[in-house]
Amino acid sequence: MSATIHPAQPLELLDQWDDFVEGRYREGKSEEEFRVYDAAATPGVAEFYRLNHEGQTVAYVLEKEKQYFGLDKGMKTIWEAAEFLNTLVDDSDPDTDLTQIEHLLQTSEAIRRDNHPRWMVLTGFLHDLGKCLCLYGEPQWGVVGDTFPVGCAWSKDIVFPEYFANNPDRLVPEYQTKYGIYEPNCGLENVHMSFGHDGYIAEVMKPYMPVEALYMLRFHSFYPWHRHGAYDHLANAQDRAMMLWVLKFNQYDLYSKGHAKPDLKQIKPYYDDLFAEFLPEKVAW
Ligand SMILES: [Fe+2]
Ligand SMILES: [Fe+2]
Repeated sequence: MSATIHPAQPLELLDQWDDFVEGRYREGKSEEEFRVYDAAATPGVAEFYRLNHEGQTVAYVLEKEKQYFGLDKGMKTIWEAAEFLNTLVDDSDPDTDLTQIEHLLQTSEAIRRDNHPRWMVLTGFLHDLGKCLCLYGEPQWGVVGDTFPVGCAWSKDIVFPEYFANNPDRLVPEYQTKYGIYEPNCGLENVHMSFGHDGYIAEVMKPYMPVEALYMLRFHSFYPWHRHGAYDHLANAQDRAMMLWVLKFNQYDLYSKGHAKPDLKQIKPYYDDLFAEFLPEKVAW
C-alpha cells in the first residue's frame, strides 16, 4: 500500500485508528498521559481527527442519519456483510494485518471464551460491520473515530479538542451551551451522536438485539462518556446502568488483538447457529 497520505484519507488503514485508541488506553496509563498527544508522532491520526472535528456538525449528522438510518442500501446476510467489509483491506499485507473478519472473530471468540451470554458473543461479531460505510463512499473521518454528541458544547475529554476550533457549529450559540439542543438528562437515545459505524450498525440491529447489545453497538466508540465520564448531564438512569455493559464490551474490542487468528472453517457452524438464533437470514442495511 502506498505510504502517501491523501488529505481526505489520512489513515493508511482504518485499523490505524483502532491501534491509536488501544495505545491510548493501554493498561496503567494515567488520565494525564491520555491527554498528552504528539501530533508529530502520529500525523495521520492527528489529521484524521482534524477532519473529523471540523466535519461532524449538526447539519452533517442529520443529513447522514437521513441517508443511512432508513436502511435502504440492500438486504444482506451477516456473512455477506462481513465478506463485503473484508474487501476494505484487500491491498494490505495479509501477514501483518488482521482482516476485518478476523478482528470481529477475535472479539467475539474472546467474549465466548469468557462464557458471556450468546447475544454478547454475537455483538462482538457484529460491532464493526458498520465500517462498510467506507465502501459506500463515506470518508474515514465519518466512519471511525471517537464519537461525541453534536448540538451542544464539546467536552474537553474528546481527543484533540483543539481541532473543534474550525467546526462551523462553533458559530451557532445554541450549540455551544452545556445542554445545547437537548434537555437535561434527556437520555442518550435522544442525542445525535457524531456519525459513524457505531450508530449505523446499531440502527441495522435495532429490531433484533437486546438493549444491552444495542448500547454496546451504538456507544462503543463514545470514549468521552464511557472512559472519562463526560456528558453525564445528558444521560438518564438507563444509560448509566448500561454503561457497565459498554465497558465490559470495550475490553474485548480493545484488547483481543494478538490472540491466535481464528480458524473460520472450524468455528463457522457455531456462528451459523448464533446468527440464526437472533437474526433473520438477511437484514436490511
Ligand atoms: Fe468499532
Ligand atoms: Fe472493533
